Amino acid sequence: MPKDLRTYLADLERELPEEFVRVEREISAEFEVTAVLQHLDDAGRFPAVLFENVRDLSGRPGHRALMNVVASRRRIALAVGLRPDQYRTEVTHRIASAGNEPRPTVTVPRSDAPVKEFVFIGKDVDLRNFPIIRQHEMDGGPFFTMNMINVDPETGTYNGAFQRLMYRSPNETGTCMAPFDTYAIYKRYQAMGKACPIAYVMGHHPAFELAMGMRLPFTTSEYEVASNLMGEPLRLVESETFADKLLVPADAEMVIEGYMPPDVMKAEGPFGEWSGYYSGQRQGEIVKVTAITHRADPILRTIFAGHREHTSLGGWEGEIFRRASQAVPGVRAVSVAPSGVGMHVYISLKKRVDGDPKAAALAAASVGFAKLIIVVDDDIDVFQEEQVWWAVAVRFQAHDIDVIRGVKGSIIDPSNIHPTAHSLAIIDATEAKSRPFPTRLRVPEKVLQRIKLEDYVPGRDRVKVS
Ligand SMILES: Cc1cc2nc3c(=O)[nH]c(=O)nc-3n(C[C@H](O)[C@H](O)[C@H](O)COP(=O)(O)O)c2cc1C
Repeated sequence: MPKDLRTYLADLERELPEEFVRVEREISAEFEVTAVLQHLDDAGRFPAVLFENVRDLSGRPGHRALMNVVASRRRIALAVGLRPDQYRTEVTHRIASAGNEPRPTVTVPRSDAPVKEFVFIGKDVDLRNFPIIRQHEMDGGPFFTMNMINVDPETGTYNGAFQRLMYRSPNETGTCMAPFDTYAIYKRYQAMGKACPIAYVMGHHPAFELAMGMRLPFTTSEYEVASNLMGEPLRLVESETFADKLLVPADAEMVIEGYMPPDVMKAEGPFGEWSGYYSGQRQGEIVKVTAITHRADPILRTIFAGHREHTSLGGWEGEIFRRASQAVPGVRAVSVAPSGVGMHVYISLKKRVDGDPKAAALAAASVGFAKLIIVVDDDIDVFQEEQVWWAVAVRFQAHDIDVIRGVKGSIIDPSNIHPTAHSLAIIDATEAKSRPFPTRLRVPEKVLQRIKLEDYVPGRDRVKVS
């Protein structure tokens, strides 16, 4: 059976049942789904949540919506073919290496494509038939937050990204594109005076999602990177609107097809951004919807914007690891930590000399976006933020902090007054080599080996839902 969102949910239920919640009760797509997620967040819990009875925009119940899937590294590990306990550096390496090794896709006939079970074209298109989630109080409308696909008209290379789409009418949505590859392709069509064809994927195996979220060279096909991350060729099928000029994933839950006209801009937003603040309203391109195809009883995937899964996709962790470990071979692990919404980077290393931490931090800084880089010794697990901050507390003094101004940053961070540059702080929280440090405390290793937790503490108290 080909991999899809359903095979993944079966894996999740089997391997990590404590990280998967089903909500059977009827619920509205307007703020109520996100209210449940907010309550979980407030309790420090981030399970994947499948809402099984959501009302669509016309008020009809019975739809399925899936949120928070990639809000945990254990679930990401499972998605990319690792064991859940391989969620640390193994995930970093797996995602980074997939980016370097695109693999072929395969095209299948329509009869073999579950996404074609239901097909709506032209005047039959009506976005109100779906539970588009309205997330935060001041959002400009309900938003899709998933994967837009477009194709470079010059080379035919497929590009995928997360791009939000704001519901505007039964067959129109609005976009907001930063100047990355999706936008560059739109501009190429615009220069030819043509509309840019797009397909929008609302749910697939999370390895597919992860591939779409990666920032790859313009010439790399994100579909082919998805083939690598999924561990099997991504199955594609002709679209209704553009036939073989725009292939779409055959095993997706739902695909929206359409085009961005070259010459129409409309007000878009506000939208609750990754920073935890709203972005303002602005003029954005629009998407005219030409067709919707979906599986029976589709599971529509949405990212909970401005919360943990929005910035958990590990897009640049691999590149930071590559640069830092090139500078300092003793680098053991890199974490782009949840607390910093992508801007806090923790590096652990086996230090040879006192200059190693700064060298590793500066190499990591060259990727841009980091606002705080903390370097720790290799006894610290950088995926446990409390451990990192313990090292800061007892191995660092504030007068040793380094601040570098004018490093590549983002205007979406509201504390930033420059549109593209911010300040970076580097903290070396490693034990100084130049003087002796006392010995760290630890329960005797022999006794730890002998005393098994499961023999003393009941199962349910051992598990922490993440
Ligand atoms: C949930 C989510 C929503 C996003 N929404 C947008 C968006 O609306 N516009 C945008 O330009 N980038 C958005 N991004 C970031 C892009 O997906 C990301 O920069 C991507 O690497 C761009 O890929 P591309 O270079 O192939 O266009 C979003 C990211 C996530 C995780």
